[in-house]
Amino acid sequence: MEDETIKPLKEAFMTETVRLKNTGLRGVTVADTKIGYIDGENGILVYRGYRIEELALNSTFEETAYLLLHGTLPNGEQLEAFKVRLVEARQVPPFIYDSFKSWPKHAHPMDVIQASIPLLAIADPDLAQETRDANISMAIRLIARIPALIASWHRMRIGLDIIPPDDSLSHAGNFLLQLTGMRPDPEIEHDFDTCLILHAEHTFNASTFACREVVSTRAHMYAGAAAGVGALSGSLHGGANAKVMKMLLELQAEKDIPSWVKNQLDQGKRIMGMGHAVYKTMDPRARFLKDICYRLGKKLGEEQWYRLSSQIEDAAVNEFNFRGKTTIKPNCDFYSAPVYHIMGIDADLMTPVFTASRIAGWCAHMIEEKFAEAQEKPALYRPSSEYVGHYCGLMGCVYEPIKQR
Ligand SMILES: CC(C)(COP(=O)(O)OP(=O)(O)OC[C@H]1O[C@@H](n2cnc3c(N)ncnc32)[C@H](O)[C@@H]1OP(=O)(O)O)[C@@H](O)C(=O)NCCC(=O)NCCS
Repeated sequence: MEDETIKPLKEAFMTETVRLKNTGLRGVTVADTKIGYIDGENGILVYRGYRIEELALNSTFEETAYLLLHGTLPNGEQLEAFKVRLVEARQVPPFIYDSFKSWPKHAHPMDVIQASIPLLAIADPDLAQETRDANISMAIRLIARIPALIASWHRMRIGLDIIPPDDSLSHAGNFLLQLTGMRPDPEIEHDFDTCLILHAEHTFNASTFACREVVSTRAHMYAGAAAGVGALSGSLHGGANAKVMKMLLELQAEKDIPSWVKNQLDQGKRIMGMGHAVYKTMDPRARFLKDICYRLGKKLGEEQWYRLSSQIEDAAVNEFNFRGKTTIKPNCDFYSAPVYHIMGIDADLMTPVFTASRIAGWCAHMIEEKFAEAQEKPALYRPSSEYVGHYCGLMGCVYEPIKQR
């Protein structure tokens, strides 16, 4: 018979050893949301009930941003009013551009955006307001101004004058104008608008989670957005598109793509733009971007980027299959990189462009988090961790004076 005195100890020990930990939080549900849904097995992405295909084919970025923030598609009057508010919010407070003049020109545009968001915050008259309406106003300013920050920083770093916004242009068209100084070709403007729709929301990815986690402390939306930009900049997340472009530029003269892919994988390196934490099949956004890459490349005499990208895709998928990793397929960054390149957007501006789109989803999530719109009450995120460091028992280690160490 078991000794009753050691039974509780044994049970405690057993509990200790079977405690589960989920590094990377894969599959852990941390909140409810009404904003987005992904079926990773079947490659389905939904914003507020609408399939991404429907929105990419029929909507505009402005309408999609309204949908994300308000939960329903707008009627004509609501959309017009929303567009007016976005246009009116496009002017970046001039002190931010004055400040840009003294920033090192080599600064990465993602760092510039992340550093500029608190500057937008201190200029926001609604910063101290905690109502939903005030947060919608802040969201509109963030959505309207981030593209201008990207375009203006880019022009200033290469010694060009900044371009004022043009109120007659769409959100997508105005960004291209402010970036290049030229009114965009309508087909490119439309394709760019589609890219903005495709990247606007993606449930609890790392950057959205970062935004939500920050505002769960009751910090303002700008604090959350700055955290989101930092999370998005990493190469396993939004930063992947710039890495894909680097790969494409390096492989332009490569004759044997299958061998290059095999060597990469043999060396334990990743093929950027491939694989996804949730999708186990082709990312539905990548299909659209692949089509745009083909069509726009043909139109502008830049077909080589589609050829090269699809060769890498085929070789990589074959090699992954051969290695038993049958679920690794192109994600949205794989084809957004050549698309943006064909549009004349520099590689280090590709993740910032992703930011200009995803800010809409982040803001929707931050509002949902702040006002507990999908669950009973707001909750401060506070996960736990397991301590595996130096340990001297419950009394703690003896502090040795520095001279005796
Ligand atoms: C996005 C990403 C981190 C998701 O990965 P994940 O499914 O969560 O799982 P892991 O990172 O643990 O990868 C699982 C396995 O597949 C491999 N793998 C996943 N994506 C790979 C890629 N793009 N190239 C090479 N190997 C890859 C990993 O090396 C790992 O192999 P192992 O089990 O032998 O160690 C990963 O696919 C990746 O790094 N992709 C490239 C970066 C990228 O495009 N990011 C943008 C995502 S939208």
